[in-house]
Amino acid sequence: MADGTQFAFTPEVEAATHTLWNKVQKHVTPMEWRLQAPLIAEINRLKREKNAVILAHNYMTPEIFHGVGDYVGDSLGLAKEAAKSDAAVIVQAGVHFMAETSKILSPEKKVLIPDLLAGCSLASSITGADVRLIKQRYPGLPVVTYVNTTADVKAETDICCTSANAVQVVEHVAREWGVDRVILIPDEFLARNVARQTNVGIIAWQGRCEVHERFTAADILELREAYPEAQILAHPECPAEVLEVSDFAGSTAAMSDFVLNRKPKQVVLITECSMADNVACDATETEFVRPCNLCPHMKRISLQNIYEALLHDRYEVTVDPAIADRARLAVQRMVDMPPPAVPARYDLVKARHHVDVELI
Ligand code: 13P
Ligand code: SF4
Repeated sequence: MADGTQFAFTPEVEAATHTLWNKVQKHVTPMEWRLQAPLIAEINRLKREKNAVILAHNYMTPEIFHGVGDYVGDSLGLAKEAAKSDAAVIVQAGVHFMAETSKILSPEKKVLIPDLLAGCSLASSITGADVRLIKQRYPGLPVVTYVNTTADVKAETDICCTSANAVQVVEHVAREWGVDRVILIPDEFLARNVARQTNVGIIAWQGRCEVHERFTAADILELREAYPEAQILAHPECPAEVLEVSDFAGSTAAMSDFVLNRKPKQVVLITECSMADNVACDATETEFVRPCNLCPHMKRISLQNIYEALLHDRYEVTVDPAIADRARLAVQRMVDMPPPAVPARYDLVKARHHVDVELI
């Protein structure tokens, strides 16, 4: 049988996963653990056997994030790990564009995604053909593309960015090209939030993250009233009105660092649901208020399909080498940039200057 249910919760499994259980037990029931712990032990064994690593995004559930992830973090961190890993196999515990990014950076490795339908509303909002039309309309302007895009979009791009470095990338490329406007696609809200942090003009596309676009300023104000002591942290894929009434805004890694370093008494993370669960496992002094939205794409990844991916080498992610070669230039330019002097944040007063975003 290959469905993972044959693995028993033996005393050996219990002993091997005991430390992990102590970490995740507030987020996993004992009944669930009896099924999950044997799978975790087996996945970790298969990883060693196959010289595989698991790159797990912050939106994975805690048993994946803490149980089998070798490298965990935000989109930028995972891309950097993919570039330097010397494993033979990468299993992407995340969504398809992340697996494609890993393949683009490590063409010699086998890259697996446990569910091929793990997509992203931003990645599906734009095609390479769209970008070619945009470039015709705005000749001479650099194209900065969020990593949440398909390989053919990255192939039309000058440099990629993530929410951890978007302002830095936009300012860098404007300086390098000697221009005062750049094209930043496809997330309209990220583009508007970047525009509030820079004097570089932004041309944006109407893509949206289906998880973050649903938060409103009214939600935040209600939370403030109910939890006046709580620090409210939002992701920059949220509308600008949400960031305006939040205490901090940054990438998923920046949010996690904020909580772990500053140890607020009470916190609200305005983002995908698993994020708070994962940080809460480590931030034991902080109380988490948990309004959140689920990402249906991230939630397609489970211990079960990670196990099957490793067992059967599926589903292998391939990228046409000609497209990958062009896309690699854009991703590598981002990976090669020095880390920002201070972590990117999107909530500062600097943001009050006049913002002019041209929407394509
Ligand atoms: P980061 O982890 O880069 O902040 O991105 C969030 C996200 O929505 C990824 O899909
Ligand atoms: Fe895409 Fe949003 Fe899901 Fe991230 S959270 S994968 S941006 S839909």
